[in-house]
Amino acid sequence: MAATVQSKGGPSGAPPSYVESPAWRFLASLPVDRKLARYDVAGSIAHVQMLTSVGILTIDEAGALTKGLRATHAAIVAGNFPWREDLEDVHTNIEVSLTERLGSLGAKVHTARSRNDQIALDERLYLREAITAVRQEILRLQLALLDQAEAHAQVPMPGYTHLQRAQPVSVGHHLLAHFWPLIRDDQRLSDSFARANVSPLGAAALAGSTLPIDPAIPARILGFAGTFENSIDAVTDRDYFAEFLFDLSLLAVHLSSVGEEIVLWASQEFAFLRPAAALGSGSSLMPQKRNPDVAELARGKSGPVIGDLVSLLTTLKGLPEGYNRDLQEDKAPVFDAVDHVLATLNALTTAISALEFDEARLLTAASDPRLLATDLAEHLVARGVPFREAHETVARYLALDRPLEANALRGFDPRFGDDVQKVLDVRASLAARKTPGGPSPEAVRIQLARAHDAVGLQRYSISKQAECIELVDALLKEGP
Ligand code: ARG
Repeated sequence: MAATVQSKGGPSGAPPSYVESPAWRFLASLPVDRKLARYDVAGSIAHVQMLTSVGILTIDEAGALTKGLRATHAAIVAGNFPWREDLEDVHTNIEVSLTERLGSLGAKVHTARSRNDQIALDERLYLREAITAVRQEILRLQLALLDQAEAHAQVPMPGYTHLQRAQPVSVGHHLLAHFWPLIRDDQRLSDSFARANVSPLGAAALAGSTLPIDPAIPARILGFAGTFENSIDAVTDRDYFAEFLFDLSLLAVHLSSVGEEIVLWASQEFAFLRPAAALGSGSSLMPQKRNPDVAELARGKSGPVIGDLVSLLTTLKGLPEGYNRDLQEDKAPVFDAVDHVLATLNALTTAISALEFDEARLLTAASDPRLLATDLAEHLVARGVPFREAHETVARYLALDRPLEANALRGFDPRFGDDVQKVLDVRASLAARKTPGGPSPEAVRIQLARAHDAVGLQRYSISKQAECIELVDALLKEGP
């Protein structure tokens, strides 16, 4: 065995004995976790600085280790790092390469550390950046929605319940209904960031160390808000990934609704949208087809993302405290969901910006007088008729299928006023719906202003959280 090991890594770069297993292919996680190399190296640099601060490594040793780690990172980025799947995972690959570079000094990097706190650290460092990337893409989509909402703030369209025409709203009002859920998605991600932003490094395998390490030091270096309270919890729980996958799932569900509405509006039945190239492609068989593929896929992508959440929760269910190898399965669903969600947000942003509304068609649909039935009932209420009676009166009139115009209404029931004709206009109806958060042009203007304020706060919050990215970048760069 020793001979094989030496021929692979040379005497100074021999794999640690725990990766020597006949099942190494089954145990290997490298194809998935090599994505974490950036965080693994940055975490090791912070660990080395801590070991130096507490007197376990000398300044010279720390200098050489840090230089070696940065060179390893540079090789990885340049694509000429000799990844070895027989070394199981990203951590061992980097450690062995460091030992090949530095001899026995490299073997000091893992002092008072385990792959258990190392992987939890890498994941949390990755997660901070993934959350930031998703938040940035959400913001872009929101800005596209805001642009369209502003441009169509006053364009009437039918509002729906049960997918039946209900009452008039405006396109701006309707698009803003997709904006606010994204604000909450963003806030959820920001909350998840705060809970993920705790360093597990120093928990070691599960029980800390007999050496005088200080977990607060690498936490500070890496920009974490704090350290773990319990070393077993620090290496066991993956709640930070689970809640992130929930955040992404709900976001994907929201995006699926955006997609669904575009699909409906692009259909010949609704025809609220003109065909736009940004929405999709043609059919391979039917020459006349212009399919809204982007919107359909935005709807469809929620499937795998929700699957990823269920996959992780199923892995976590019933695990005993302490690291368990099952946890190795935690990364693939997270990476998969991030890829799907980022791609969806990106494509949907382009699609939303390209939407061309058929305003005449929307106006015609919104001018369906039956959408004003509630307005008629409220007209009676304003004239003293109890609401239930008013509702019933209008329903009886509509059942007769007579034209909705003033004389006929007044002939049917004299409680309708002389001014009832004014109620029967879609724009007047919209203007009258002045209640807060409602569709009147005035209320939508206020809503748009509040949306811009919310985006301002969001932008600031994202930029604060994005500072973690530069911090990791700076650790990885050649420095003094
Ligand atoms: N590849 C492992 C994972 O992803 C790293 C931690 C391994 N720890 C261990 N004791 N085998 O979870």
